[in-house]
Amino acid sequence: MLTVVLILSLMACGILSWWRRIPNKDEPPAYPGALPLIGHAHLLLGDSVKLWNFAKKACLESWKAGGAVSFSIGPKVFYVVTDPEDFLKISNTCLQKDHIYEFFKAWLGNGLATSSVPVWKIHRKLLNPAFSPTVLHGFLDVFNGQSRRLVKDLEVEVGKGQFDHWIYTRNNTLETLCLTVMGVDIRDDQKLYSEYINAVAEINSIMMERIQKFWLHSDFIYNWSALKRKQDACLKILHNMPYFILKQRKADYQNFDKKQIEKTAKGPIFKPFLDILLELSIEEGAFNDRQIREHLDTAMFAGHDTTATVLMYNMLLVGSHPQVQEKIFEELFNVFGDDDRDVTKRDLSQLIYLDAVLKETMRFYSVSPFVARLIDRDIKLRNWTLFKGQSCLMSSYGVHMHPLWGPDVEQFKPERWLDPASLPDFANWHSSFSLGRRNCLGKAYAMMSMKVTLARLYRHYRLSGDHTKLVNKMEILLKPVSGHHITIVKRNK
Ligand code: HEM
Repeated sequence: MLTVVLILSLMACGILSWWRRIPNKDEPPAYPGALPLIGHAHLLLGDSVKLWNFAKKACLESWKAGGAVSFSIGPKVFYVVTDPEDFLKISNTCLQKDHIYEFFKAWLGNGLATSSVPVWKIHRKLLNPAFSPTVLHGFLDVFNGQSRRLVKDLEVEVGKGQFDHWIYTRNNTLETLCLTVMGVDIRDDQKLYSEYINAVAEINSIMMERIQKFWLHSDFIYNWSALKRKQDACLKILHNMPYFILKQRKADYQNFDKKQIEKTAKGPIFKPFLDILLELSIEEGAFNDRQIREHLDTAMFAGHDTTATVLMYNMLLVGSHPQVQEKIFEELFNVFGDDDRDVTKRDLSQLIYLDAVLKETMRFYSVSPFVARLIDRDIKLRNWTLFKGQSCLMSSYGVHMHPLWGPDVEQFKPERWLDPASLPDFANWHSSFSLGRRNCLGKAYAMMSMKVTLARLYRHYRLSGDHTKLVNKMEILLKPVSGHHITIVKRNK
């Protein structure tokens, strides 16, 4: 009964705001199909396949309208921006994340992805060095070890026909993140491992359900819902694990002689993210335990699903394009010959075609199709003005599939990245990691770990698949519902 009253009250507020709101003539035009009171909310309801279809249509309208369009959920207005220069301008002008990110705070607290601008400025500065080339080169052994694991795990699928490779990329990436972020091999504790994996998957779908069911946006209603009870159960598992590891690592930290290790080390030292946070906390008093936990959770959240999804799409796309696969193999053969040795820092700079294939994968399937900012001042774009107080969805899908790419925009063509003349005539063509000052902190980490993984995978296996059978959905990230199956055979030495 209380819920009904609350929904009715919210609707009444919606009517009032809707009546009062007169769109400015400079504001991006509205997406067709708005209804009185609820705006476009009816178009967002339904499953996440429908949501993705709506998102793509909104981008199409945005292209037609010169880079931006708007839609509303009740009184709330969202702009959808697809012009790359506008995307960059908003990214650098409005650093505050949209209200929608508040939902994630229960898990991520004030980690970088969700923090308010004053906290973000201080913490981003402190954390930038944790993703420096020196630290990343210290991760090469882990990345190589994990690529061997993936090749070994996949052996059971050789010659057996089609299988879903998502579980393999997801588990492998999660293990890599646990090793480099928290310094633990999660395979050592199978119970903890499966509990944590399930909780991560569950929390993503809980967040997505809350975003789609707009009446659950109100904390007051959400706190009474069954979904909130499910969220609490997940959070218990998700928060316990990093606290447990933090406690252990803190004890180890007191006992080891960091300076001695640094003095005697020959190559780059492996230093998990947690150790860097501990150093900053113990030596500079920069973070308390809760803040350390929030940064660990954020790196796990931001790093694992994204990387695993790109790897999954990459394997499917490469399996669907035999000529691309042979070119990758040729390049790998030129660098490694018959040798199954580890990938070195020098090798990475030589894997130019593999780099292009990865970029084209991320253009073709924009795994993080939207990022959302709060418009905290009026901004003049190329063709429109965005007004203070509204929300803005900047679309990497909208940039990557923009008609400016030319008639081959819908073709998978890694070669386009090898010739600058074949790229569109604007600077920010690759927005998978977002743009501007608040872009992805783990960009270089992600590119390095994926290249190392794929460089071994394609030396060992020949893949086949058919990406045209894919049906995609939007669950925060872009994900396939079906059709993401491949087959693998061993390559002859
Ligand atoms: C292919 C893999 C990845 C993709 C496509 C990706 C994409 C993104 C995007 C689009 C954002 C901006 C999100 C927003 O504004 O809503 C972001 C932020 C972030 N990412 Fe990534 N990411 C990837 C991998 C990683 C990895 C491996 C890590 C860490 C190990 C990481 C850590 C972060 C962090 C900490 C932020 C927040 C940055 C800030 O607000 O200052 N990401 N990422």
